[in-house]
Amino acid sequence: MTTPSPYRQTGSAARGAGPTVRPTVAGRLVFLLLGGIALLAGLNGALLLLGVWAPIDSARLAEVHGPLMVFGFVGTVVVLERAVAVRRGWAYLSPGLLGSGGIALISPLPVILGQAALVAGSAVLLVIYAEIWRRQAAVSTGVQVLGALAGLMVTTFWLRGIGIPQLAPLLILYLVLTIAGERLELSRISPTVDYRAESWMLGIGLTLCFGAVVALVWPVTGYPLLGVGMLALVAWLFRHDVATRLVRSTGLPRYMACCLPAGYGWLVVVGGIWLLRGPVYSGPGYDAMMHAVFLGFVVSMIMAHAPTILPAVLRRPLPYRPIMYLPAALLHLSLLARVLLGDAYGWPVLVQWGGIVNIVAVLLFVAIAVVSVVRGNAMLPARTVQRVAPSVSPVRGSLL
Ligand code: HEM
Repeated sequence: MTTPSPYRQTGSAARGAGPTVRPTVAGRLVFLLLGGIALLAGLNGALLLLGVWAPIDSARLAEVHGPLMVFGFVGTVVVLERAVAVRRGWAYLSPGLLGSGGIALISPLPVILGQAALVAGSAVLLVIYAEIWRRQAAVSTGVQVLGALAGLMVTTFWLRGIGIPQLAPLLILYLVLTIAGERLELSRISPTVDYRAESWMLGIGLTLCFGAVVALVWPVTGYPLLGVGMLALVAWLFRHDVATRLVRSTGLPRYMACCLPAGYGWLVVVGGIWLLRGPVYSGPGYDAMMHAVFLGFVVSMIMAHAPTILPAVLRRPLPYRPIMYLPAALLHLSLLARVLLGDAYGWPVLVQWGGIVNIVAVLLFVAIAVVSVVRGNAMLPARTVQRVAPSVSPVRGSLL
C-alpha cells in the first residue's frame, strides 16, 4: 500500500508554487559520493581512535571522526533525500554544504572552514523544513524541525569552540528526532496513532530539546531529564510504529520489521546511561552512549530504509535481498560485544574487535547496496522484486 506524499504538489498547487527543478541522477550521485567519502574517511578515523592499523595515518581524521560521520556522512544522505522530496533547486544547497563541509574537515584547510559549511548547510535545512511546513503543517514535520534546530545548535556551538562531548545530547537529538519524526509520518496509518499519540510525540521531542539545553548549563539536572525523555520516546516507538508489527510478513517488510526494533532497543542503552549515570564526557560510557545511538540506532535505520529511500533518490531500484540480514546481524552482534561487554566490563580488546567488526558490517552493507543498485532486479526471484513507482514519495516507501 502506498500513500501520496504531502511534500509533493501536483496540478495547480505545483504550478502555483513556481517551476520545479529535477536535478539529474548524475547530479544526485555527486552528493552521495561526498557522503561516501565522508563515510570512508570517518571509518579510517574510527580505526585510528580504536588504536589499530588504518590505511591513512592522520591525526586530523581521528579528531574530526564524530562530526564527519554525523554531518558529512549521515547528514548529507538524509538531507539529500529531503531536497529530492521538496523538488526545489535551492534545497540542494543543504546537502551540498554538508557534503563539502565534510570534505573540508578532512582536507588540510583550516577546520573552521568545514565547520562554517556545516553551520550553513544546517541553516538551509531549516529553510527546507519551512517549505515542507508550508505544504503540510504536521506534528511529524514539527518533530523533524526540532531535530534540525538541534543540528544547527551543535554546528554553531562547535564552531564557537564548545567540545563535542559537551554537545553530545544535541548531536544525538539531531538524528534521533529527524528519524522519529519520519517514523511518526509513516505510522499515521496505524490505528493507534491519533491526536493523543501525536501530542505525546511532540511533548517528548520538546522535553528532549529542553533537557539538552538544560544539560549544557546544569548537566546534573539536564541528563536525567534527557534519560526520561529518551525512554519515553522508545516506548512511543515500540507502541505505535506500524512497521514493527510486520515481523510475521515476508521479504522487505519483515527485514525492516527486524531492523527497526533492534535499533529502538539501542536507544534504551542511551536513555539508561543518561538517567542512571548522568553526564558522561569520556571513557567507555562515552563510547557506549555515542555508538549505541549512531551505530545501533542510526546505522540500523539506514540499513532498514535504504531499499525504499535510495531508489527515489537514484531513480534506480535497490531491491531487497535476504543477504542484507548478514551486515545487519553482524552490526548488532559486534555492537553487543563492544558496548555491553567491552565498554560495560572494561575489556578494551572486545571494544577494539567489536569496533573492527562494526566497520566490516557497515562496509559489507554498502557493498551489497552498490551491487544491488548496479544489478537492479536482475537475478532476483519474482517474489522478492520490489516495485519502484516513481510517484511514491521518497519519504514514504512502498512498504506501507
Ligand atoms: C563503524 C564503526 C565505528 C567505530 C569503530 C567508531 C569508533 C569510535 C571511537 C573509538 C571513538 C572514540 C570514543 C571515545 O572517545 O571514548 C569514537 C567517537 C565518536 N564516534 Fe565513532 N565509530 C564508528 C562509527 C561511528 C558512526 C557511524 C558515527 C556517527 C554517525 C560515529 C560518531 C562518533 C562520535 C560523535 C564520536 C565522539 C567524537 C568526539 O568526542 O569528538 N561513530 N568512535
